[in-house]
Amino acid sequence: MAFILKEMEMEADAVEALEILSRSSEHLRTLIMNLLDFSKFEAKGEELNERDCSLFKLLGDVREMCKTNLKEGVAYEHDIADDVPDRIKLDDIKLKQVLINLVGNAVKFTSSGYVKKQTSVESKDGKHYLIFRIYDTGIGIPEEKLAALFDPFSQVDEGNKRNFGGTGLGLHIALNYARLMGGDITVTSELGTGTEFRFHCGFVPT
Ligand SMILES: Nc1ncnc2c1ncn2[C@@H]1O[C@H](COP(=O)(O)OP(=O)(O)OP(=O)(O)O)[C@@H](O)[C@H]1O
Ligand SMILES: [Mg+2]
Repeated sequence: MAFILKEMEMEADAVEALEILSRSSEHLRTLIMNLLDFSKFEAKGEELNERDCSLFKLLGDVREMCKTNLKEGVAYEHDIADDVPDRIKLDDIKLKQVLINLVGNAVKFTSSGYVKKQTSVESKDGKHYLIFRIYDTGIGIPEEKLAALFDPFSQVDEGNKRNFGGTGLGLHIALNYARLMGGDITVTSELGTGTEFRFHCGFVPT
């Protein structure tokens, strides 16, 4: 409904209120989805639901979703290597969730410079992998916090939590899904300079 209202003529303060309303409901939705994903995984694990999909469409969707939250002046670039196939078979819902969590973080914690996402492909021992690099020029993460970063409810600090919002579940869920998909996520970061997440997962070419 907020989306529909946005299309209508309104006074400036109503537009602002509507903007807050739609951001808050989006935030609440993410929070509930994360809590449900987390509880479900804890309760009974997860299964892969692999099917044919268009990778390019999926990557475009992730870009559109994450771009709406970019701060003013922050550039968003996404690069797909020439040999990355469009038609693939994997659990597209989980892949999308991992990418949204990683790119969403990069966007959230970057107030100047850029957020970049690179997609490439690799084959090893007869298996095929998608490789993603998501890097930003945001606030960075202190070295002593990196080890526990993927733990549930882990956030860098209290002040951070107040400024940026969130529950600290996004990375935990992303790592669970990445491993389920035959992959992993690693992170390198420098405080005040930026952060890079590397994520890979298996896929079947179709
Ligand atoms: N790109 C990044 N730059 C700086 N800090 C990051 C970045 N990505 C993650 N972090 C740090 O790692 C913490 C955990 O990330 P995670 O995505 O799990 O939680 P969240 O974003 O705080 O909340 P949620 O994802 O549940 O909405 C963040 O709170 C933040 O402190
Ligand atoms: Mg997050």
